[in-house]
Amino acid sequence: MAEKIKTIAVLTSGGDAPGMNAAIRAVVRTAIVKKVKVLAINGGFEGMIEGNFVEMDAGSVSNIIHKGGTIIKTSRSPRFRKKQWRKVAYEQLKKAGVGGVVIIGGNGSLAGAHVFTSEFDMPFIGIPKTIDNDIYGTDYSIGFDTATNTALEAIDKIRDTANSHHRLFFVEVMGRDMGFIALHCGISSGAEMILVPENKNNISELMERLERGWARHKSSMIVVVAEGAVKGGVNAIAEKVKAKFKQYEIRISVLGYFQRGGNPSCFDRFIASLFGNHAVKALLSGKRHVLVGLQNNQITYTALRKVSEGKHHINKKLLDIANELSC
Ligand code: F6P
Repeated sequence: MAEKIKTIAVLTSGGDAPGMNAAIRAVVRTAIVKKVKVLAINGGFEGMIEGNFVEMDAGSVSNIIHKGGTIIKTSRSPRFRKKQWRKVAYEQLKKAGVGGVVIIGGNGSLAGAHVFTSEFDMPFIGIPKTIDNDIYGTDYSIGFDTATNTALEAIDKIRDTANSHHRLFFVEVMGRDMGFIALHCGISSGAEMILVPENKNNISELMERLERGWARHKSSMIVVVAEGAVKGGVNAIAEKVKAKFKQYEIRISVLGYFQRGGNPSCFDRFIASLFGNHAVKALLSGKRHVLVGLQNNQITYTALRKVSEGKHHINKKLLDIANELSC
């Protein structure tokens, strides 16, 4: 029988996302309730390599549930890609008496955790976080809801100025190579068109839609563009449109890192709290190398191997619905 875990460690890794603090809080508080010592690893995998660990108590996670970012810092660690540094990280965990790790991370970090667990004997449980929402094994990742609402608020404001000036705006949102943020805030803001990386051949459709919009004397038009949707980015597509429709005023707004910060939404705090609680219980009950996720409104566990091989994809039917609604 596996030895009882007496000490666990928690880290945040990769790009930050609103709701990470709520997950840290849930991990720490659950561990304390279960009478397990809990260490925070400061600075993601880099902190693991450096042995930058600090013991947490219930008070150390007070008043953080509503805050964006991560109180234990994060990093994208090039060193952790090399086995020699993963070995150092393993030795640091063993030296600190760590019997299991909860990692709050995105695709890259969870893939790193999978590689680590195939080399070293250390149980890992993953908690999905990324504003991109592209992690296999969960319908929602921590941060997506907040980022989408932040982008939506910005687009609503852009609509006001666009309307006043009778302008077309291209609004670029984040999402790396996935269109979740663009799709959700595009539908919710009533965008005239949504460009996502998953559907690249739509420039002629865009031109047609804009032409129709101008023919209808629309007072404003918004095109939501996911980063990675168009070769050359939002500027390239705006230039093409400007060249064709010289008589219209066109502006570009790139929302950028604004989308990664801010107070997490109720939903992000809620799922982060559930994920953190279930992650610790999973670790203590003997589950190994799985991601805690939410699928069809149920908490689920998916092997980190599968998570590292797969991706969560948008439902392309939603693009058709978006087009129908913005006809
Ligand atoms: O994965 C989250 C994300 O914000 C993406 O949407 C974006 O493409 C990327 O991170 C930016 O990465 P970095 O923080 O390394 O600039």
